[in-house]
Amino acid sequence: MVEEYKASFPSEIVREGEVEVLVPKLSAFGVVPSDYAPSRAPVFFNPVMEFNRDLSVLVVRVYQRLVGHEIGVCEPLASQGVRGIRYAVEVGGVSRVLLCDINHNAYELARHNVRCNNLLDRVVVEFGEANCVLNCNASPKRRFDVVDIDPFGSPVSFLDSAFRALRNRGLLAVTATDLAPLCGVHVKACVRKYGGKPMRTEYCHELAVRLLAGCMAQVAARQDMGVKFLFSHSSDHYIRVYAQVGYGCKRADESLRNVGYILHCFNCLHRESVSQLSGGLVCSVCGGKMDYAGPLWVGSINDASFVDSVFSENCAAVFRGRLRLDKLLSLVKAEADAPVSYFVVDNVCKKLGLPAVSVQSFLDALHKEGFKAVQTHFNTRGIKTDASAAIMRKLLGQLVADKA
Ligand SMILES: C[S@@+](CC[C@H](N)C(=O)[O-])C[C@H]1O[C@@H](n2cnc3c(N)ncnc32)[C@H](O)[C@@H]1O
Ligand SMILES: [Zn+2]
Repeated sequence: MVEEYKASFPSEIVREGEVEVLVPKLSAFGVVPSDYAPSRAPVFFNPVMEFNRDLSVLVVRVYQRLVGHEIGVCEPLASQGVRGIRYAVEVGGVSRVLLCDINHNAYELARHNVRCNNLLDRVVVEFGEANCVLNCNASPKRRFDVVDIDPFGSPVSFLDSAFRALRNRGLLAVTATDLAPLCGVHVKACVRKYGGKPMRTEYCHELAVRLLAGCMAQVAARQDMGVKFLFSHSSDHYIRVYAQVGYGCKRADESLRNVGYILHCFNCLHRESVSQLSGGLVCSVCGGKMDYAGPLWVGSINDASFVDSVFSENCAAVFRGRLRLDKLLSLVKAEADAPVSYFVVDNVCKKLGLPAVSVQSFLDALHKEGFKAVQTHFNTRGIKTDASAAIMRKLLGQLVADKA
């Protein structure tokens, strides 16, 4: 018998990727679609996150091909189910999807959406608490290849169980929207949740990704797992990190070696990463006092070849946000092997009392002097370079003088 479902709130069918799902009609709840928090609706749905979901589909497609076998996916904070349903429909080789939500309206809506997309044979929806569901699936035969944590705010309270529910070589995708702590507005909250001190700098969004990544590495290590970050980005109001886990204490120790600190001199803009904090944090360039962020991940947050495959995958896809995806992926690909942190041209100019120059002219000047320099997706005016802060200052001065 086909179960009848009638939403007890205004709803509408939307098409996203290759699926159609019933979602709350946001206009009925006084919510503008571009707002981040359509949380006034009885079930959460944010159309702005289509970009995030498109990207997740691309990443999981590439990951599935990389492992080369059928995969099981768990999305324990699924809301109306669109993300998990898209994995089942749009990623080849997905044999099992488990969705869960603690909100009964969301659970019922997700079940309806699974049924309407004819996925009852592969997609199961549970009503429950994410950690309970993950822990119930943590035994070796029940674990997943992909766990996707997409919470309100911070993901930290789900990390332990998410790692436990992952197979060896599994992929953990994590969103964090609590950028105020991670970007250094609420320092204590960041230390409490992520175990690392943030720092209010021009590159705080990169620090946010590194704080989350560092926290993930430490949680994984407690369960004798190592992590490798395949892809990370900061977009709109959130950051997103994709980590592949590897079982074993050696791998855990190896990944912990990438957890350290980033030192920053607010006087001369010098920055460096170190594995331990020692001494009086004096700037080796100008002798000023340095501040620090961490512990956080100082290793690579992107795997260039993985990002390249995601980029190619997007070229073959027909998503609404394809051009934006293309732009993000090409920037992340180019900056994958670039040094830690970036300089925002306007900030450096302001600090030096110089008029702002164009990003391109500054990139050209750095290239001419033989330095590596690329734009970063973290900031449209940001540059990652192996040139020191002192060289940056000198070149900027020259650039402005030449133009005068
Ligand atoms: C940001 S929404 C998820 C959105 C969804 N992943 C998407 O792409 O549209 C977070 C969801 O987590 C659910 N939630 C919050 N805490 C939970 C918990 N402890 N266990 C299970 N679900 C939870 C909320 O009810 C909400 O539906
Ligand atoms: Zn200095």
